[in-house]
Amino acid sequence: MKDSDKFKIVNELAKRRGFFWPSFEIYGGVSGFVTYGSLGTMLKRRIEDKFREFYIRPLGILEIESSVILPAKVFEASGHVEHFKEPMVECGKCKHKFRADHLLQEFAGMSDTKTEKLSPQQLIDQIRKHEIKCLECGGEFGEVKQFMTMFSTTIGPYSDAVGYGRPEAAQSIFVEFKRLYENARERLPLGIVQIGHALRNEISPRQGVIRLREFTIADIEFFFDPEEPQCPLLQNVENEKLRLLLTEAKLKGKKEPVEITVKQALGKGFIKTEWQGFFMAQAKRFLMELGVPEDKQRFIEKLDWERAHYSKQGFDQEIYIERWGWVEVSGHNYRTDYDLNQHMKFSGVDMRVFKEGRRFIPHVVEPSFGLDRLVYVAVEYALKTIKKRKVLSFPRDIAPVQVGVYPLVGKNGLPEKAKRVHQFLVKEGFLAEYDESGSIGRRYARADEAGTPLGVTIDYQTLEDDTVTMRDRDTWKQVRNKVERLPELLHAYFRYKLNFEDLGELVKG
Ligand code: GLY
Repeated sequence: MKDSDKFKIVNELAKRRGFFWPSFEIYGGVSGFVTYGSLGTMLKRRIEDKFREFYIRPLGILEIESSVILPAKVFEASGHVEHFKEPMVECGKCKHKFRADHLLQEFAGMSDTKTEKLSPQQLIDQIRKHEIKCLECGGEFGEVKQFMTMFSTTIGPYSDAVGYGRPEAAQSIFVEFKRLYENARERLPLGIVQIGHALRNEISPRQGVIRLREFTIADIEFFFDPEEPQCPLLQNVENEKLRLLLTEAKLKGKKEPVEITVKQALGKGFIKTEWQGFFMAQAKRFLMELGVPEDKQRFIEKLDWERAHYSKQGFDQEIYIERWGWVEVSGHNYRTDYDLNQHMKFSGVDMRVFKEGRRFIPHVVEPSFGLDRLVYVAVEYALKTIKKRKVLSFPRDIAPVQVGVYPLVGKNGLPEKAKRVHQFLVKEGFLAEYDESGSIGRRYARADEAGTPLGVTIDYQTLEDDTVTMRDRDTWKQVRNKVERLPELLHAYFRYKLNFEDLGELVKG
């Protein structure tokens, strides 16, 4: 763990300003659960909407919504019941339980590549060799056991009707594939996405919103004909450079990724399918849009023993965050026909499609994003200190509030006018917030901390000529323009990235 305060600063700010905080605080809290306040809920929603706009709609990917609890049969078929397990140690004294591999990563500096390969016996041997003791009481750990990290329940009052909380949103897409394929008029390629809550009963999560037991996942399952694997959109991304840390390099102990275009990576066989290359490039661009520069992103290829059981080739997109180092925000797996095949075997229902005289099971590439991590990353990368004040410089299109509306002072008709301007902007579809409490300086500071890109201030001149000032969050510059022009100007500013200076006449400060 790197010694840095940023994680702490982000979490403190997030809590104080109502972005997010650990849930159930009045009962002492339970780690791995988060509550989003109004700013956080809006930020998360806007990131989701941006994801839809950027990733889903241009590709004609169809969105579905299904249940969080699924019958056991689904996860027996998918292999999760057998494979979805993590190594756990228990303190002999106080009985606290921890992830064995995470202890070695945190306190013995081991990489996950190394820990993933260790058997239960080797894990405990290493823990003892490195003299890692219980983090609660300093006691000795007992043997390593495998803990199944799906939440289980019973469906209705029947103890044999076992259900599991879904650990991924993907399975309902596979289970419903036949109907979805018919609904989509039997076209391939066909992308289906599900964005929703998923549950993983993490053993001892200690990374706030980075590792949650209940979180939001966006799983895109992109089905294609394995005999026609070409991606017609490749030319849009083929020159995009990706920073790849490949398995071969990992095995040699290398830590630095190679920088290579998508086209070269496909040509050299580093990425096995064109669609996967396409989606990885899109993922890089998407994170850049959320404010993460290229050099703080990388894709790390998973070794055989690190990959999920369903994956033939997998890359994690990782983002550098100050406290925790490289953290996965999306996974890109080539799931082949694994899942449909399994459901075909377990259900007896034919999952094959019929095309030009051939019957086959489509193959799948899966880009899968953890939305809560995207929220965290967006906040960490937006955090700036300007003139000793904390400012969240969110990209305009994800800011939870677009415009703050303020009367300069709380008297002489200014609040009434400001409220009318606020309502006008709300009706025009902007995320506008009215604030009249405290001095104007304090209100600007509050809005900067909330990441609100623009402030509209109503002053005495407004009452004379119906003009207002607009203030830029990042430069604190101000311009002036007519109230009636605000919808058109703000629309151009938020949608088409009009320069702030073009919003009106510069007010000399
Ligand atoms: N479906 C993606 C995952 O399980 O991580």
